Amino acid sequence: MSSFDPVRELDMRRDLSDASWKVLLQSDEWDASLAAAADDKRREIYGDEVYLRGLIEFSNYCKNNCYYCGIRAGNQNAVRYRLSKEEILSCCDEGYALGFRTFVLQSGEDPFYTDVLLCEIVSAIRARFPDCAITLSLGEKARESYKAYFDAGANRYLLRHETANDAHYRKLHPDSMSLQNRKRCLYDLKEIGYQVGSGFMVGSPYQTADCLIEDLRFLQALKPDMIGIGPYITHKGTPFAAFPSGSLSLTLRLISILRLLFPYALIPATTALGTIHPQGRELGLKAGANVVMPNLSPVRVRKLYDLYENKICTGEEAAECRGCLERRIAAAGYRAVTAVGDVKFPAARLLPFPERNADRRI
Ligand code: 5AD
Ligand code: FES
Repeated sequence: MSSFDPVRELDMRRDLSDASWKVLLQSDEWDASLAAAADDKRREIYGDEVYLRGLIEFSNYCKNNCYYCGIRAGNQNAVRYRLSKEEILSCCDEGYALGFRTFVLQSGEDPFYTDVLLCEIVSAIRARFPDCAITLSLGEKARESYKAYFDAGANRYLLRHETANDAHYRKLHPDSMSLQNRKRCLYDLKEIGYQVGSGFMVGSPYQTADCLIEDLRFLQALKPDMIGIGPYITHKGTPFAAFPSGSLSLTLRLISILRLLFPYALIPATTALGTIHPQGRELGLKAGANVVMPNLSPVRVRKLYDLYENKICTGEEAAECRGCLERRIAAAGYRAVTAVGDVKFPAARLLPFPERNADRRI
């Protein structure tokens, strides 16, 4: 009988060899024990708390043309919208009344929102809600722009790296985009002082186990505070219309792996996960996720922010979404909390064994 136990090794050592990663990623043999170990780890650090983030998708205009994304510039069938500063603020008002203490402002890369306008929006939210975290997810910008938003009051930034393999990155994006610039953005954001989130899609076209290993290794180097992953989901308005969506089981396996690799990370059970399976988000929580991001965008624009097909929660008012999620979280065995929900200890301080003992000043 083999003594190969990658879950135990991962839990103890917070790392695996390439060969072990490959075996673990490509087999469902350890899924149950991975999820159990990940759930233990999240309970040890975050208890049964699940943090709620109010998501405001304020523009679906995008100058980019990512091959997987439904709101890509080249999708002539996308019906475009933008929210004004006042509309964004009234989403925050509604969210605050519902108990949200983090607002996530997300959009395509839309030049209509200049740095001056974005800073005005961020400052207005900061002034009105001094006790809330402001998370931005606006794509790739110049370092000075990131700094200006930070100085205006933003605390966190989400920018998935999408894939850490250069050849794979080029298969997913046109030549105008580069992995190098994406990484530059992530490191700039960290240096400026943001809590940074990165991540990738699971099962995106041309993704291999080796790509996923590179994703894990890149995240180990970046040490993000937040890690968002979700299945790739086909959209017919993209060049990838013929590719199948990513799988539930591989996404859950990776959530558990991420929890064991980054015990302190804030990991969402994403809307994409809830889209490919009716219980996807609950399963995500049970596999180690500890964040959910209900939608606060006005219902009239919800369907238009369609990165992928059949996105859930597009018909419900914010209050309904929040109630529904609270019940789902409780049914899964956790507790929705309205705290700001900062990362407990910055992941950057957590080095792989054995260095972590020498440098653990938390
Ligand atoms: N399926 C799943 N996720 C997608 N995203 C973009 N398009 C898709 C898709 N077709 C993800 C990307 C992006 C995030 C906002 O949404 O990872 O960073
Ligand atoms: Fe807009 Fe990819 S097409 S972020």
